[in-house]
Amino acid sequence: MRKLNDRLKKYLKKYNGKLYAEIRGYDHDALYVGRFEAMKKYIRPEAKTVLDIGAHFGEMSLEFAEIGKKVTAVEKSTSKISCLREYCRKHGNKFNVVHEDIFDYTQKHRDFDTVLALNIFHHFTRTEDGFKKLTVMLRRLRITDMFFLPATTEELTEEGSVVSTKNAFVEWVMSQSGMTKKILVGTFNKRNLYYFQR
Ligand SMILES: C[S@@+](CC[C@H](N)C(=O)[O-])C[C@H]1O[C@@H](n2cnc3c(N)ncnc32)[C@H](O)[C@@H]1O
Repeated sequence: MRKLNDRLKKYLKKYNGKLYAEIRGYDHDALYVGRFEAMKKYIRPEAKTVLDIGAHFGEMSLEFAEIGKKVTAVEKSTSKISCLREYCRKHGNKFNVVHEDIFDYTQKHRDFDTVLALNIFHHFTRTEDGFKKLTVMLRRLRITDMFFLPATTEELTEEGSVVSTKNAFVEWVMSQSGMTKKILVGTFNKRNLYYFQR
């Protein structure tokens, strides 16, 4: 736990004492408090497999694993992956950790019930290449539902971005991934969290 503690301390110092979600056993603030509680209502019992895209320290992966889902947490960053692994280990290795670029990973694995796309897709809209890869991935994945938390309009439409408005982006992600139903789960840290279903 020492390494994780040290890393978290460093991270929290850099990001005003806040993580995305609650890391258990560690005293800190979170930006998206209560997200999982709100999502629970929409999690289908028959959905067995979950792909957590850009899992960060694994906060959401652990939550889904603990309600019996088979979770794959994909994280590209070398600096995050050791914390993610340690967090997973500390809580009984209940989910699978993959250190890989999500675009490479989904070339080989495309069948999941649920996708968690929380604060991640705007990373890919800043360049034409990223946007192209996102398009290919969304069309390729064979999923039945998705929790999607887009960035703010300002972040999504910052200079160089290929996205024009947040609403257009939400509709676009839905259509590319073959989803037809959209439900607003709640608003966290001024961002809407959506649940999409096929
Ligand atoms: C803003 S954080 C999202 C945190 C988390 N999903 C949440 O809100 O609960 C984005 C994470 O995605 C990771 N990431 C960025 N690009 C990625 C890629 N191509 N493949 C996998 N992970 C990536 C980053 O390293 C970072 O940990």
